[in-house]
Amino acid sequence: MKTEKTQHNFSHVFNKEVAENMSESVQAVEDSKFFDPSVYTSDDWFNFEIESIYKRNWLALGRVGYLREPGDYFTVTINNDPLMVVLGEDHQIRVMTAVCQHRGMLLVEEDGHIERGLFRCPLHSWSYDLEGNLKHAPEMNKTNNFAINEICLPQLKVEIWNGWIFGHYDQNAAPLAPTLTQLDDVMKNYDVENMVSLPPVELGPYPWNWKLMLENFMEPYHNAYLHKGIHDFALGHGFVEHSPDENVIMHPTGFDREGGAFNPLHKSLLPEIPTLTQEEKSQVMFAMVPPMMPLGLVPDHMFHFLVLPNGPNEIKLRVGLCFPPPSLEVQNFEKIVEWIVDGIMMYNDQDVWADTATQIGLNSSFAPRGRFSWKETTISQLNKWLFKRYKEYGEAEGLI
Ligand code: FES
Repeated sequence: MKTEKTQHNFSHVFNKEVAENMSESVQAVEDSKFFDPSVYTSDDWFNFEIESIYKRNWLALGRVGYLREPGDYFTVTINNDPLMVVLGEDHQIRVMTAVCQHRGMLLVEEDGHIERGLFRCPLHSWSYDLEGNLKHAPEMNKTNNFAINEICLPQLKVEIWNGWIFGHYDQNAAPLAPTLTQLDDVMKNYDVENMVSLPPVELGPYPWNWKLMLENFMEPYHNAYLHKGIHDFALGHGFVEHSPDENVIMHPTGFDREGGAFNPLHKSLLPEIPTLTQEEKSQVMFAMVPPMMPLGLVPDHMFHFLVLPNGPNEIKLRVGLCFPPPSLEVQNFEKIVEWIVDGIMMYNDQDVWADTATQIGLNSSFAPRGRFSWKETTISQLNKWLFKRYKEYGEAEGLI
């Protein structure tokens, strides 16, 4: 997407002193302390993250399977940018702004299908084709130097990876796939690319910071306490070496049985994926592709979240489920999916309570800058991923 060179002045938000202070959070997990609470609560810091994180990294937006025929589209808003993800006549997926280039009216606000291949703005009827080109603009014939064929909806660079659609604000961004090879290897036996994606469910808004969501999804420290009883079958804790140059953090969690699952029976409700190894049938692989997507690979399906922030103290979640094609033939599949969703919600309800309360605590004048347990290694890894990108932006903008 073409964006103006930023006019923001973040010198009071991120500078040498702040960077030095933050570096205490990216030491070995035994020696580190958490980021300052303001990193989770401040408007200034969140605005800094829009530029340093969201506009400079690949963003997961949804699954290819949500779009079936040309003209299908879905909408997603990244911070203040309403976007539409569109399948063109050429079967290419494009990610473009949903903002009309006349006066800024939104072209669409819901997911849907465009008939006759034109997005028509409801306000003055400017119409754009599936590639974003302006095709009609009524009553503009007296406007000087107005060339209809020079106007196109600004777009994000797109990369498809394992059935996910990713977008990047920078058309010159380096490819995503080489930074996800570890996760690629993990996903092979699940054949994630060919899984069937059910339409996602939107949850929230929830009153906590986007990083808190990623952290609590990935850290196993709380499982034996907050989720006592319902998580006891899954207390294995493996950490995977992480380089902040990569865009994945993983945390395999062993079950005390084969075919474990996050429901009251703690047992897979659909046939296990036959190509999995014994180890894969006895674990969940929690992973995240920051800043937007945590996911879990379990023996019979994959679940994933999109974390959509709205300022420092609020997010929405999109929750998706993906299944191997044969599972859709299982009798009562739709009912079983409801049970799987109910099972995930059993854990989510406890997390909602804890995350809400933690965000309140982080806004307090008595909020701590606490120390890590070794079981919070994934948070330490996320801190390193973030800090590298804060610093890169700070260097590029002459802040440090
Ligand atoms: Fe869209 Fe005027 S704002 S046509």
